[in-house]
Amino acid sequence: MTGKAEHDTVPVLLCAGSALEEGGHAHVWDVLEYGRPQRAFVLRFDGVVRAYINRCLHVPVEMDWQPGEFLDSDKRFIVCSIHGATYEPEDGRCVGGPCGRGRLTAVAVQERQGQVHWYPSRDIRPSAPPKPPANAAAEENPP
Ligand code: FES
Repeated sequence: MTGKAEHDTVPVLLCAGSALEEGGHAHVWDVLEYGRPQRAFVLRFDGVVRAYINRCLHVPVEMDWQPGEFLDSDKRFIVCSIHGATYEPEDGRCVGGPCGRGRLTAVAVQERQGQVHWYPSRDIRPSAPPKPPANAAAEENPP
């Protein structure tokens, strides 16, 4: 898991683990960070799923070259498409370019039983309320 080691929120399903190939395309989704719309992304690096808010530290813009494409040609670093700020995929730390000494904002994710989930936090919430189970309406309104 990345992000917070402990969490007390209900996990939200993102995608199948098989959809995230090593060094491949990221899954991008919408979140609210402090109530403001943002995009987040999860990718697989060294076999582990890692997720961050899609916002460069240099200028607060989205970083992907093409939708869901964050890694450089060597599949070694996350690189911002605007001015080339370079981040370590393992922890989001800036390692080159105009991003200073900071790091990307991590989002807690976990892969289990072939599915990738993220864990909302106090600051980073789902952009839409989770959908109730398909049979919830029938249970609430019995005939
Ligand atoms: S906006 Fe990302 S490097 Fe400048």
